Parts: sequence; C-alpha cells; structure tokens
Amino acid sequence: MVKSQTTSSNRNLTNKLDDRILYPGEYLQYRGEDNRTFIDKSEGVYLYDKTGHKMIDGPGGMWNVNVGHGVKEIADAIHEQIRKMPYASPFSESTEIATTYASRLVKYAPGDLKRVFFTSGGSPAVDSALRFVMFYNNVRGLKEKKLIISRHDAYHGSTYLSASCSGKERDKNNFDFADDIVHHLSSPNPFRKDKNLSDEEFCDIKVKELEDKILELGSDKVAAFIAEPILASGGVIIPPKGYHKKTLEICRKHNILYISDEIVTGFGRLGHIMSSEEHFDVTPDIILLAKGITSGYVPCGAVVISEALMADLDNKEKVIFSNGFTDSGHPVAMAAAHATLDFMENNNLLDHVKKVAPYFQSKLSELIDLPIVGDVRGAGLMAAVECVIDKEKRDPLNLQYEIASRINTHCQNLGLIVRPLFNTCVMSPSLIIKEDEIDELVRILREGIILATEDIKKEGLWS
Ligand SMILES: Cc1ncc(COP(=O)(O)O)c(C=O)c1O
Repeated sequence: MVKSQTTSSNRNLTNKLDDRILYPGEYLQYRGEDNRTFIDKSEGVYLYDKTGHKMIDGPGGMWNVNVGHGVKEIADAIHEQIRKMPYASPFSESTEIATTYASRLVKYAPGDLKRVFFTSGGSPAVDSALRFVMFYNNVRGLKEKKLIISRHDAYHGSTYLSASCSGKERDKNNFDFADDIVHHLSSPNPFRKDKNLSDEEFCDIKVKELEDKILELGSDKVAAFIAEPILASGGVIIPPKGYHKKTLEICRKHNILYISDEIVTGFGRLGHIMSSEEHFDVTPDIILLAKGITSGYVPCGAVVISEALMADLDNKEKVIFSNGFTDSGHPVAMAAAHATLDFMENNNLLDHVKKVAPYFQSKLSELIDLPIVGDVRGAGLMAAVECVIDKEKRDPLNLQYEIASRINTHCQNLGLIVRPLFNTCVMSPSLIIKEDEIDELVRILREGIILATEDIKKEGLWS
C-alpha cells in the first residue's frame, strides 16, 4: 500500500525522528509513519537527501523554484535586507523596496493592470482578489452581485474561499466550502472529451456552459469568473484553443470580472512574467501571482488589479480597503522578488524557456509509447504524463493503484523527484534546466514508469 500521495523513497530516514508535523496531503491514519523523503540540501535543478543521494527536482519545488536552487544573489539580497530592516508595517508605513518592486512588476502586466496588492502567498492572493471583487460591488451599491464561478479540476488554494473555488474531487473530502458563493463548471479537459467532438465543438460547449451558468444564476448576481489559464495541479489541463478569449468575451458581455490565476503560469513557466495576454490572448481584470515571484525562497503573493476597477471606486464616500496581512509587501520578500526578477532579466531566462520548452515537451512526448501512458501534455516548462488502463477508452488507472506514487518511489531511487497526482506525473522543473538534464529526467521517468508497471502486473492489478 502506498501511504503518501506526495514524496516517498526507499532511503527515508523519517523513522529515526520524532516527526510531529501534520503535513499537507497526508493520509491521517499513517501519520508519523509517512514515507517521506527528507530533503537536506539543494543546488541548481537538484535536491539531495540526508544520505547525499542526488535527485533532479522534477516539480521544481511546487512549480515555484523557477530560477533554481542556490542562487547566491537572492540569498545575499535576503541577508542584506534582514540586516538593514527586517520589517515595516504595511498598514501604517511604506518602504522603497516594496514600491520599487510594484512599479517594476506592473511593467510586465497587460492592459491597465497597474495596481498591486501584496500577500503572503497564493491562497491569500486568491482570497484577497475575491474579497476585493465583493468589496468593489458593495461600494458600487451592487450588493447582490457576489457569486463566483470556477471550474472542476481547478486548484486555487487552501484558505476557505480559495479552497471553495478549487474543484479537484479528492480535495473535497470531509471539508466544508462556501457552496452558496462559489459555483463550478465542468472541467475543460480535452483529454476527457467525447471523441466524436472536434476541438472547436468541445470549446463551444464549454463556453456555452459558462454563459448558461451566468444566465441560470443571473448576471446581476455573478461577480467574477476565476480561471487558471492552464489548470495546473488538476493535471496540467490545457483548455481548447480559443477557450480563454471566448470565456473573457462572455464575461465582458455580462459585466462579470475575469480573474486569471497565474500563480503557476506566471514568472516564466510559459516564457512570460504574466502569460494571460502574451500566451492566451486575454487581458483580465485581475491577475494573481505567487510562487515564482520569489522563486520559492521566501513566501510572497500579489494581486494585480486593473486601474479601471480602481477608478470605479473613486468619487465615492470615503471607503477603506480593510483587507491586509502583517506580511503584505514584507521587505524580505520584496528583496527576494527584486533579486528573482534581476536573475531572470540578467540571464534572459524567459528566452531560455522559449528555447528549451519545445525540447522538453518533445522528449516527454516520447513516453507515449509506454503501455500505460495515455497522454503526455504540457506547455512551456510544465507537463503531465497521464497513466490509463486502456489507451482507447482513456480510463484513468484506478485511484487505488496510486500509480504515480509508485512511479515516484522508483524515480526517486533512480535520481528524480516526481510530483505524483494519482494517475498523473507532473513535471515542472526549474526554468534553468538544460537539454542534457531534460534527457536525464525523461530517461529516469521512463524507467520509473516501466518498473511501476511491472509492480502492478506482479500484484495482478493490471495485465
Ligand atoms: C493555481 C494556484 N492557485 C493558488 C494556489 C495557492 O497557493 P499557495 O499554496 O501559495 O497558498 C496554488 C498552489 O499550488 C496554485 O497552484
């Protein structure tokens, strides 16, 4: 029985420690005996466990360590900032390091998205955007216009409202959600579409579903549509061509705000700091960022808001935006964010991604010849390898097989960490990855899939 949906290896040293942590994504009945690998140090695209065993960091942390591990300039910037001034209150003061970063950031934003609200991570960015949208409608006297539309297979975070927007089935177990506020559409997953439908027909069905939902709930009641351009931890689901633009048009038609959750797709993952406009041809009202903003070195998030929305709040009675965090625009996070952007600009990292991504995608796509691999999909430096029982029927390999965890265990022993999502292996390495490292990543992943296939065959689970 595989005890964890996260990392596991045969070399774990956890049983030597009194491990008191309640981990995200942990099966509670196995707490304390979870088979996690303890990571001890990291460098470039590699992680090392306590025994010194070297593994490629396939998920690039949690698709956040975009500039790679061990960048001295970021460490130095953090160190210097802590020595100079570790903290100042964002509620009553400001800092040059935060204001200069905000104005640097918005140069990369599309349209008139020029106002930045900083948060301490991704979920607070999602919650803050949703609270802003509700506040925005309250201030404008539209007190009924509060509902949010999201999608199945989306992931938006783990705070109450962001989790309510998430649509991954397994995340729904035993938790409560704001179901009165958030309404879900079906997943725009082309791999699971009816085979008789063309991509265009599938796209039109999904777009119509959005419009039908708005009409069903009432456009005077729906405040916003929230969407990851690529549904990342739902399994790197890329909606059909034209979907983004058409859904934006529907939102515009019904006066509904469009929130683009770029917490994964931002900061270079697709070769852009923000990909909504440059990659997907949509200019949203709000863009959400986190993860790669500081390359995971310290926590940070941001909500980038259109000036048109801000202007709609002008000339009203005195209104206070009383949403904020102790760590909004934290000086140390701002130092890391500046240094991350410096590294990306100085090393032409966006160009590197554009150059290396086709190689990454094409090498991974070679795995489709393996008997249990049903789909290999991705964009930029994010990809998913989905395992199925039957390539024709595209049935996911039964969840109880935990096939991706099995693959991860084998891969870790061979020198690669995989992000296992039940029947899907996600790969999103640091953006600095080079072609020979991609070769190694794909070679190990192939071997891991072959070994896991042999396991389930031996156990009589698959033939
Ligand atoms: C698309 C997306 N939105 C929001 C979040 C939540 O971010 P955080 O874990 O920093 O709260 C995540 C985290 O994985 C994410 O992938």
